[in-house]
Amino acid sequence: MRIGTPLSPSATKVMLLGSGELGKEVIIELQRLGVETIAVDRYANAPGQQLAHRAYVIDMTDAKALRALVEQERPHLIVPEIEAIATDELVRVEEAGLATVIPTARAAHITMNRERIRRLAAEELKLPTSPYAFASSLEELQAAIDGGIGFPCFVKPVMSSSGKGQSKLKSQDDVAKAWDKALSSGRVKQPRIIVEGEIAFDFEITQLTVRASDGKGGTATHFCDPIGHVQIDGDYVESWQPQAMSAAALEKSRGMAAKVTAALGGFGIFGVELFVTGDEVWFSEVSPRPHDTGLVTLVSQYQSEFALHARAILGLPVSTALKSPGASAVIYGGMDAKGIAFEGVDLALAVPETELRLFGKPEAFKKRRMGVALARGHDTDEPRARAKTAASLVKTVAPA
Ligand SMILES: Nc1ncnc2c1ncn2[C@@H]1O[C@H](COP(=O)(O)OP(=O)(O)O)[C@@H](O)[C@H]1O
Ligand SMILES: [Mg+2]
Repeated sequence: MRIGTPLSPSATKVMLLGSGELGKEVIIELQRLGVETIAVDRYANAPGQQLAHRAYVIDMTDAKALRALVEQERPHLIVPEIEAIATDELVRVEEAGLATVIPTARAAHITMNRERIRRLAAEELKLPTSPYAFASSLEELQAAIDGGIGFPCFVKPVMSSSGKGQSKLKSQDDVAKAWDKALSSGRVKQPRIIVEGEIAFDFEITQLTVRASDGKGGTATHFCDPIGHVQIDGDYVESWQPQAMSAAALEKSRGMAAKVTAALGGFGIFGVELFVTGDEVWFSEVSPRPHDTGLVTLVSQYQSEFALHARAILGLPVSTALKSPGASAVIYGGMDAKGIAFEGVDLALAVPETELRLFGKPEAFKKRRMGVALARGHDTDEPRARAKTAASLVKTVAPA
């Protein structure tokens, strides 16, 4: 493996498609290794754009615009950080030998659509999942529920992330509302949803899984300690590592993570989301990129999920060793405003073994993630309490 000099003809160039808080940390890790970085997002001054060598604002779902930028920049690697990308164009870019897409263009294409990844996991790989069906109309949704999915169940647009357009349905009264909500928030014009029966899990985890070079021309699969998390309305609010679980459940989790990541292929980190009850494990979904609940690894591992991603995609060795139990707690905008300020940062950082990341997003929304508090401690209870306290001490303030 050879790395050149940034901003020279020998440069090793990596283009991030999406440059939010997760991409920002990947860019930091790449720059530590002397990589030239190009940050692309749909709006200006996105977190990662504030530090990359170059920044571009384009509509990444526009295949033509995406292709033109790839041809202009000729990156060695293209690293998707979000789902909403013209992934069929990434497939063509890869086929034309223009760049390597991380982990593979096919992985980005499959995982951006809940129907494709669910069919791969449940029907081809035979992983246990919630009962599910797909629907393109309210009538089809009703038929799926009546036909066995029942209540409670979840309705999600097949193309959406972070809980957008998602509903939990408790009874017949919720069906039409859920359909309307899915329609108004999906990314595409033709409506398509997945309806899933509820798994009444004890807890849910993210099994971070790294596919990296084994140093002999092959691929080795590495597992991080499981990350526990709390989701509210489909968005993560708190995470911790390690999540205690039975040896049998851990073994099943890793077996499923190995299978699904092998089917997607390539090098890089994957966030495999699993539901756990006792020794039973169900596959939920997978991100072929750093996972938001994995922000905790910035303090809990020697190599964070971002460092692991940077190393793996460059063909370098990785270590998933845990440094200390840790936790993360999200800091929300709390208001809709541009150019907000943060107060109480001093108070938050006075909490022992605590760090903060303020992402620098130019615009806040009430429920937009603007920062995260991170903490270490003895078992996971102590860091969880510290991270939550630190997050609550940071107050967002409207601009004058
Ligand atoms: N079938 C299900 N059974 C139980 N909980 C679910 C189910 N589907 C989703 N959830 C809950 O909603 C969260 C978000 O769902 P997910 O499919 O991961 O959507 P997103 O892609 O927006 O993250 C999950 O982490 C879990 O807490
Ligand atoms: Mg999820």
